[in-house]
Amino acid sequence: MSGGKVEQKFLITEAGVKNFTFELTTKIFFGRGQARVIGEEIKKRGGSRVLICYGSNRIKDNGLFDTVTLMLERAGLDWTEIGGVRPNPRIDLVRKAVKKCKVEGVDYLLAVGGGSVIDTAKTVAAGVFIDKDPWEMFVGKAQIQKALPVGVVLTLAATGSEMNGNAVISNLETTEKNAIHSPLIRPRFSFLDPIFTYTVPPYHTAAGVADIMSHCFEQYFSPENDTYLVDRMTEAVLKTCIHYGPIAMKRGEDYEARANLLWAGSLALNDILSTGKTGDWACHQIEHAVSAVFDVIHGAGLAVIFPHWMESVLSEETVDKFKDYAVNVWGAEESGNAWEIAKEGIEATVRFFKSMEMPTSLSEFGVKESDLDLLAEKATRGATIGKFCELDRTRVREILKKAL
Ligand code: NZQ
Ligand code: ZN
Repeated sequence: MSGGKVEQKFLITEAGVKNFTFELTTKIFFGRGQARVIGEEIKKRGGSRVLICYGSNRIKDNGLFDTVTLMLERAGLDWTEIGGVRPNPRIDLVRKAVKKCKVEGVDYLLAVGGGSVIDTAKTVAAGVFIDKDPWEMFVGKAQIQKALPVGVVLTLAATGSEMNGNAVISNLETTEKNAIHSPLIRPRFSFLDPIFTYTVPPYHTAAGVADIMSHCFEQYFSPENDTYLVDRMTEAVLKTCIHYGPIAMKRGEDYEARANLLWAGSLALNDILSTGKTGDWACHQIEHAVSAVFDVIHGAGLAVIFPHWMESVLSEETVDKFKDYAVNVWGAEESGNAWEIAKEGIEATVRFFKSMEMPTSLSEFGVKESDLDLLAEKATRGATIGKFCELDRTRVREILKKAL
């Protein structure tokens, strides 16, 4: 004991601005040609036998797979592979990969792809250390205690999975799409080379942009009112998407556009924009329910749902936040009726997603009115969702109905 006087005033936990603890451990290699050090990076971190996870044969056809394996071999590393990850990645492939890791003594995972590939690798990394079926982690029956290290070569700007501790996996048998969260599965490093994203087709580019913007919305629209700095940062990420999204769709090989979107994607969901904030996340829960049943592309689903959520939660209590959004993100005139200005922001969002050729209704995914009860139930699971605005099953159904 120092014998000093303990000042209670320094230990009071209630404060005007919400407390937070922030730690970001993913090392980022951003830009051209950085991939040359992948092997060395894994070796330096103690890896020796690497499982490369990927989706379709695209990375084999375009030479990225050979480039990565050459770099691993140059560093004297052993590697093995598992391909076939699909968008809305499945638990079945995770099970197969966990077995492979155990049998082949894998000690490092390298995800080469978008969010689906990264989330698969993260789940495998944790799954190796649990005795139960890996799906148990997604239904609260198994805790993540340990995980193999994961590295990433990102090929699509969207989820932020390359820099966060989340993984989202689908179970076709139970038609569930659930998430796990743990700092233990946060990638140790990620390579972000805009050139790797040149080939992303316009539809997936747009869906990625819609996902990045949705991550911004989920955190921007929060119950706290004293988060000036983080809100301005979030608006900057949104403006980056609005500016560069259409350019990247038109000119896939525009380095500046791809680079800005790539970094925007990571910044939107690496915990920075949620410092001091309680995220809402209702729209993500609704979209995951839709994806679980109808296998829709995540960002496209969000582009349909978010504008309807915005219209539904606009109220006397929330109108000022929507006004900020309209003025600071879309350049709406600040003076005038707050409701009119707020609506201008929501309409601009609808117009933007339309201009990005995103779907505008759930029926485009095959959803019918008779599906809405099930979807509302899956999204809410007997509880309310959302923190900016709490929604029960009936409210969620109403939003889904409007989105139909
Ligand atoms: O199989 P490949 O060849 O990789 O094809 C993919 C896939 O068909 C393709 N693609 C990726 N990079 C490409 C490319 N095509 C051409 N050129 C390239 N350079 O794009 C398609 C979609 O890929 P996917 O990985 O599914 O997309 P995304 O990154 O948007 O990931 C979506 C998944 O992540 C989850 C979503 O729910 C969804 O399952 N999310 C994960 C989060 C996280 N871990 O933090 C948060 C998100 O909110 C989200 O829920
Ligand atoms: Zn998302």
